Amino acid sequence: MTLHIDYANCLADRVGAHGLAPEALATAGPTLTRLTEQLNQRRGTGPERWRRLPFDPARREHVEAVTRLAQELRPKTDHLVVLGIGGSALGNTALHAALNPHTYNFLPREERGGPRLFVLDNVDPHLVRQTFDEVRRADPGFERTLVNVISKTGETAETAAQFLIARSILAEALGDRHADHLVAITDPKAGTLRAVADAEGYATLPVPEGVGGRFSVLSPVGLFSAAMCGIDIEAILDGAAAMDDRCSDRSPRRNPAATLAWLLVAFARRGRTIHVLMPYCNALGGLADWYRQLWAESLGKRVDLEGNEVFAGATPIRALGTTDQHGQVQLYREGPHDKVIGMIEVERFEDDITIPADLDVESLRYLQGSTLGGLLAAQKRATEYALVESQRPNYTITFPRLDAYHVGQFIQLWEITTAYAALLLNVDAYDQPAVETGKAVTFGLMGRPTYEKWQARVERTLSDTPWVV
Ligand code: PA5
Repeated sequence: MTLHIDYANCLADRVGAHGLAPEALATAGPTLTRLTEQLNQRRGTGPERWRRLPFDPARREHVEAVTRLAQELRPKTDHLVVLGIGGSALGNTALHAALNPHTYNFLPREERGGPRLFVLDNVDPHLVRQTFDEVRRADPGFERTLVNVISKTGETAETAAQFLIARSILAEALGDRHADHLVAITDPKAGTLRAVADAEGYATLPVPEGVGGRFSVLSPVGLFSAAMCGIDIEAILDGAAAMDDRCSDRSPRRNPAATLAWLLVAFARRGRTIHVLMPYCNALGGLADWYRQLWAESLGKRVDLEGNEVFAGATPIRALGTTDQHGQVQLYREGPHDKVIGMIEVERFEDDITIPADLDVESLRYLQGSTLGGLLAAQKRATEYALVESQRPNYTITFPRLDAYHVGQFIQLWEITTAYAALLLNVDAYDQPAVETGKAVTFGLMGRPTYEKWQARVERTLSDTPWVV
């Protein structure tokens, strides 16, 4: 069983002039084959070292290290607080949301198997205070609390601030033993977090060299909290490896990443610069958020590889079916012709609910005896039809079932699709110069030595505005 993509609704046969001609994919075939050869040749090297993650020896090394640490710490931990942001947090939330119950944190420990999980991916004081208040309420001495700080660079202001707060709380409660309650995931050699972790004696796991934040979920970055919370990390990596194999196929018709990238880039070139990803499954919402960062940060680039201004990219939107049928679909059907809509469906829900038939109301009888999964599928099919009727290109990714194997497939699919899209757009998928400016300015505004010039620049640019109402 494998993830599959039905893209018939992207083609002119279904959505008329708003679709792509089926021959266009055939015409693009040689280019896509050349890109596949290029990607296969450089696989696992340079900034594409993330492609090694589902395969030995990287896989064995990471799984062994993560499993060893998780086996030691899991029995001692009831509350796991993850500190990180962007690529150092979104994957953790996505895996947990997809593969553990919605009610995981409310379940008794015996049923959960692992600790409660809190991923703090912001410096909103309410979020941070309320989370630590809740952990303190349940575990006043923080004896059964573990803080996992994740930062590749070890320099990100948000994560550094969270870390200083968490460390201080643990040190106050536990004294010298606080170091046993911290796990740092960071660069194996460099950066402030690495230096502090080594000096204070925290357990550490690596962000593998050459693996950028948004491509790091299949490394210890995403795997440690998953293993702590009982997720089958080997199955995730098996799924990713199987998808990697499919996405190495020279024939675009058999290669889902090549096809998907081509579709989305072709539509962006025709003015459909918004890409909606709409799972019909709440548990997949976190993966849609994870995808959103991957696509936006990798492809949204001012210049191409030759330095020409291109302003490339497509805006990724996360929606949720059926909820957003009552909020967004009006716009998707009748608003500007600027979107492609990707729906995600789960073929079979393991624990579906039958709608009871014990109330005799004529107008509700059509629902009775069906399942919620059946209703969800009908709603998705209805949206698909409605979009086609309005000539709005859309496609569907199907999960045969929602499990670790298919989640691994989904992750590798989108990472490789992003690599193809970057080649088609001729941009660097692995830098984020626009994000770096924000980081540097924050340092300047917060008084970090050597960044003072940024404070002056901000003052000059943003002060003294009369345009306030
Ligand atoms: O994808 C990325 O590279 C970013 O989103 C980073 O993950 C994010 O900025 C956090 O960086 P770091 O892990 O260095 O703290």
